[in-house]
Amino acid sequence: MKLLVTGSSGLIGSEVCRYFAQVGWTIHGLDNNQREVFFGPQGTTRWNQRRLEAELGDFQHHELDVRDRSGILGLVERIKPDAIVHTAAQPSHDRAAAIPFDDFDTNAVGTLNLLEAARRSCPASPFVHMSTNKVYGDRPNSIALKELETRWDYADPDYYDGISEEFSIDASTHSLFGASKVAADVMVQEYGRYFGMPTCCLRGGCLTGPNHAGVELHGFLSYLVKCNLEEKEYRVFGYKGKQVRDNIHSLDVARFIAGFIAAPRSGEVYNLGGGRQNSCSILEAFALVERISGKAQRYTYVDENRVGDHICYISNLAKMKAHFPQWDITVSLEETIRQIVASAQLQMAETAGNRG
Ligand SMILES: NC(=O)c1ccc[n+]([C@@H]2O[C@H](COP(=O)([O-])OP(=O)(O)OC[C@H]3O[C@@H](n4cnc5c(N)ncnc54)[C@H](O)[C@@H]3O)[C@@H](O)[C@H]2O)c1
Repeated sequence: MKLLVTGSSGLIGSEVCRYFAQVGWTIHGLDNNQREVFFGPQGTTRWNQRRLEAELGDFQHHELDVRDRSGILGLVERIKPDAIVHTAAQPSHDRAAAIPFDDFDTNAVGTLNLLEAARRSCPASPFVHMSTNKVYGDRPNSIALKELETRWDYADPDYYDGISEEFSIDASTHSLFGASKVAADVMVQEYGRYFGMPTCCLRGGCLTGPNHAGVELHGFLSYLVKCNLEEKEYRVFGYKGKQVRDNIHSLDVARFIAGFIAAPRSGEVYNLGGGRQNSCSILEAFALVERISGKAQRYTYVDENRVGDHICYISNLAKMKAHFPQWDITVSLEETIRQIVASAQLQMAETAGNRG
């Protein structure tokens, strides 16, 4: 079985490559290290590409841009993958406004290139698209909230288990990133509904793990841990640092993707996050990281929140669990942070060793 993974050097892409390689699939990874172009040298994912090349037996890297339409059509025609997992993206809410063409061409047009390539060459192959909870724009902020000592929480009991896929994506501020991801999300649904292809959109909350190249503009926990270990100031943007994210380890994302590929459906959407059990506010994340690393977190507070930033976002996982009862969260938030800390410590030691 052949799997095509776009964004294969990134957090989710690399986890998916490893997961499927372990169960005997041939892996075709597609990535052009665009993350470094988006975020500078700290964002590079080349190290992750090299690891995949060194550690996975049956892995082939394709240095290709998802915006390269004829390149994508040709590659998918040659490989005819048995499944496609599309994780390549401009992933930052805040970065998009400075690079609107690159953002839309990558997120929306790149996704269309892949969908059409799949329709022409392998229409029966499951197509999994990494979408985002930013498709709901800032509408989650309209849910009544209560302020607790270290976090905001939903005051409306209907939302205790989080936000479901029924939530409206209309009449809200999305950021240009959210808008380009909405375009891709709707197109992925349409290829499912109109052409009957086995497609799904995974609307991610905070996806995280030790293989994230965290930068200030993307990869909240990974970047926060780096700041903690390097004793650098982390900047908190508004909401008193009590904004809540639900965090899911990339392994649990890969496990869900494997479940969908084994029993695909058409034109589905799922909210994919860590749920209430893996949620934390920034202040709570500071405390957890401090406990694990033994270092005090340095931070400054900026009054103004990021445009359209969620105050409290928790994914309701009921639909995922109803469609795939074998699936559940297996990695706790604490374990995830432990792994991120250990991996960042190793990277720092390697960098120091190279300098020495
Ligand atoms: N990490 C999160 O918290 C989060 C949350 C919600 C949704 N998502 C979505 O999940 C997906 C994966 O996120 P991630 O955190 O693994 O991102 P990532 O930045 O770690 O990985 C994305 C990879 O795609 C590559 N890429 C970017 N543009 C490309 C292009 N034009 N052509 C080829 N390759 C390109 C990058 O070089 C990078 O290696 C994205 O679609 C993102 O929007 C992520």
